Amino acid sequence: MVRHSVVTMPGDGIGRQVMPEALRVLEAVGFDAEYIHADIGWDLWRSEGNALPDRTIDLLAKYKLGLFAAITSKPKKEADAELDPKLRDKGYVYYSPIVTMRQRFKLDICVRPCISFSGNPLNYIRKKPDGAFEEPQINTTIFRQNTEGMYCGIEWTNPPDVVRAALGSHPKFKDFTHVPGKDLAVSVRIITRQAAERIVTAAFEFAKRKGFKAVTICEKPNVVRETSGMMEEVAKQLQEMKFPDIQLWRNNIDAQLMWLNKNPEDFNVIVASNLFGDILSDAFAGLVGGLGFAASGNIGREVAVFEPTHGSAPKYAGLNPPIVNPIATILAAAMLVEHVGEYEKAKKIWDAVAAVVKEGKVRTYDMMRLTGGPKVLQQGAAATPQMTDAILAKLNGGT
Ligand code: NAI
Ligand code: MG
Repeated sequence: MVRHSVVTMPGDGIGRQVMPEALRVLEAVGFDAEYIHADIGWDLWRSEGNALPDRTIDLLAKYKLGLFAAITSKPKKEADAELDPKLRDKGYVYYSPIVTMRQRFKLDICVRPCISFSGNPLNYIRKKPDGAFEEPQINTTIFRQNTEGMYCGIEWTNPPDVVRAALGSHPKFKDFTHVPGKDLAVSVRIITRQAAERIVTAAFEFAKRKGFKAVTICEKPNVVRETSGMMEEVAKQLQEMKFPDIQLWRNNIDAQLMWLNKNPEDFNVIVASNLFGDILSDAFAGLVGGLGFAASGNIGREVAVFEPTHGSAPKYAGLNPPIVNPIATILAAAMLVEHVGEYEKAKKIWDAVAAVVKEGKVRTYDMMRLTGGPKVLQQGAAATPQMTDAILAKLNGGT
């Protein structure tokens, strides 16, 4: 019997190109698993009116572990126009399968490691006062609350009367009472204590396991007093009660982004609510190689799904051989391996990627700062499978 079962969701576009690469790496590292393919994405919307079919939800509910690559989504008009004519005008509405998956399985903890591999030409560099340059080693993991906050989806333009009345009970709303409904947009930011405790605890536990001395919370409690205030209060309480050996640093989100250029290497673990965490993780990812390197995990109490952060990059999806960087998906697979407790195998994958990047012989087009297209291969860029081959060679003991 195999030890693990993983639901694989390649999705659309380059998702179908990078998924097989990650599976080759998992096999090479000896991860003992069976893989169950599941449908997700734009083609399913077009043919079935549902980008996340029930059979995929059932598979995730059954096996509880998923590796997802990328999907395509398009604005409402195009979505309606591309729906199978047999399904038109039958009330089908496009919903993002990723957001639906996160909500359906309460995947409330989003983990996004942003770790620089030395030798990556895309790494952040800093100018020193003497004019020389230095390249600090960045090792930051961002814990982003994934289900609440600004992305909880409770919003209106022209809010109904009951909502206006409720808002009107707040003294600060008097400046807005005269605004006509069609000119008034409201998005609600909800933070619950329970969700705040889960994300903050996950961040502290990670810091403890990895031996980091501090967790930084990035909010804005001096202005957004209630919601950011609750995040910080929970972080303070948990630090005092459960993690006295780890420091809690508090930086306002705006200041943290300003400091990004100053000392990013000082922050190993960052925790934030949904929107702030999303912004922070993109900002940090930009310092360590961008979309070709950015992996993430969406972790709930029962189900966990790992994915690269990039999308389906349709403009490159038709290229054969493919040119996109498989490393983000390979690192997402490594996170999955780590999540199920196979730390040694996860480390082997990270080390093999690190060795290939450091050696610098095999680089996909993004690592060479080329504009994507079929000609990048003549310009010396590696095709997608060649990057994986190089990683496999390191896994198999190549130097
Ligand atoms: P994208 O992430 O697909 O691509 C943006 C650009 O980043 C690409 O054109 C390419 O230059 C580069 N890039 C992305 N992945 C790369 C890789 N592995 N290696 C090298 N370069 C890479 O974002 P875009 O163009 O905004 O969206 C395209 C489609 O993907 C849209 O339909 C969008 O809705 C969807 N999307 C899906 C996501 C997901 O599945 N999680 C996330 C973001 C976008
Ligand atoms: Mg984002």
